[in-house]
Amino acid sequence: MNDTEEDILKRGFDEYREFVNPLIAERAKLAGEPFRIMGVENGRLREKDGLVFDDFHGTQAFGHKNPHIVEAMKRFLDSDAASWYPSRVNPFGGRLARRLCERSGYYDNAFFGCTGSDAVEAALKLARALTKRPVILGLDGAYHGCSFGSVSLMAKGYLRDPFGPFLEGARLIPFGDIDALKAALVPGDVAAVVVEPIQGEGGVRELPSAYLEALCDLTERHGTLLVADEVQTALGRTGRGFLGTQHWPRRPDAVLLAKHLGGGLMPLSAMLTKRDLFERAYGAHFASGEAHNTTMGFNALSCVAGLAALDLLTEDLIAKVRDDGLYLKKALKTSLERLSLFREVRGAGFMLGISLKTPSHPWLSFEHFGFPELAHHSAVSPVVCHRLYRRGFYCFTCGHDWSVFRIQPRFDIARERLDTFVGAVAEEIARVEELS
Ligand SMILES: Cc1ncc(COP(=O)(O)O)c(C=O)c1O
Repeated sequence: MNDTEEDILKRGFDEYREFVNPLIAERAKLAGEPFRIMGVENGRLREKDGLVFDDFHGTQAFGHKNPHIVEAMKRFLDSDAASWYPSRVNPFGGRLARRLCERSGYYDNAFFGCTGSDAVEAALKLARALTKRPVILGLDGAYHGCSFGSVSLMAKGYLRDPFGPFLEGARLIPFGDIDALKAALVPGDVAAVVVEPIQGEGGVRELPSAYLEALCDLTERHGTLLVADEVQTALGRTGRGFLGTQHWPRRPDAVLLAKHLGGGLMPLSAMLTKRDLFERAYGAHFASGEAHNTTMGFNALSCVAGLAALDLLTEDLIAKVRDDGLYLKKALKTSLERLSLFREVRGAGFMLGISLKTPSHPWLSFEHFGFPELAHHSAVSPVVCHRLYRRGFYCFTCGHDWSVFRIQPRFDIARERLDTFVGAVAEEIARVEELS
């Protein structure tokens, strides 16, 4: 075996199939996803057959291997600064925490992890330690990650069902139902309500504004922590500001960040909260101060990537996401409205979702494609995504609602490219419509 990049790119895809997960490799192949990715060109990905495509997953808000972030990481690696600090007192973590808190305009305490799920766990434990209450509420349609705390708040289905029993006290309440929220809070045993400002995997569903007001008010009155899982919505993604919750009637007690926090290059997540909450939960003595931790969450290389990502994330760039997001949403609506498969385009900024109707025609079903076990899922959005790959756009069907696909472009994408995307989506949906 020779671990050169050339050899890895030649054999590593098949090694993934053999040693990691054959089903994922097979699914990617059947879905026609570009997955033999041979390189990066100006932040876009190049596949084996030369196709260059835009990755609309959302993790690569600055484009793949953004040069500013790469340079910062190289400088750090070439210096004599340590990356891991056995005392845990990491100056790069200190600086990143300060910059995140300052940019948030509200929070003054940060905790770092490696994944979005790490941030969710940190919030659940903060809420339990602070309130000593047993119950944690999430909303139907939620996706908070795959650790046990997160999965205990997962919408029912293939991502949750195999793993019970779940975290004691974790419960889901109906999405957007104020009466259900009120009733759940009355007993006074709820430590936290965890919500996504816009549910990503649940189908790009925004919390209705009346619900948001009730949520902010009721959690405060009941002494329940309000936790906003902003793993998908923060850091400019919705175009509404640095955080997607900045304009809520009340700031959540904790917000959770991940995805492009590490610049798309390093695994990095954070929980931002208020110092007094942190002190009440963990500040009793030296031992309690270390009660919750991650080994590699505070490594300097990730923090360096995070600092460089923050340099790029200017208010001007966020304003561009807002304006281009509005432009894209309007253009999609205008071109797709005439199509009978189109239901709506929803979301904000560069977190949009196209919702499609499921045709009754038996052709367009997983059963027809030979996957009866998937028959209850809509096949229409996976088929449209499949066709879009060959047009140079990698879009993603929502994890819980397969009738919707998400569109999360990099922030500096040019308008012309968005126009090309709109044209491609309209043509491909029309083609599927003709066939069905
Ligand atoms: C809203 C939300 N929360 C949490 C997570 C979990 O993040 P990770 O996969 O990094 O653990 C995700 C992942 O997609 C997410 O979309």
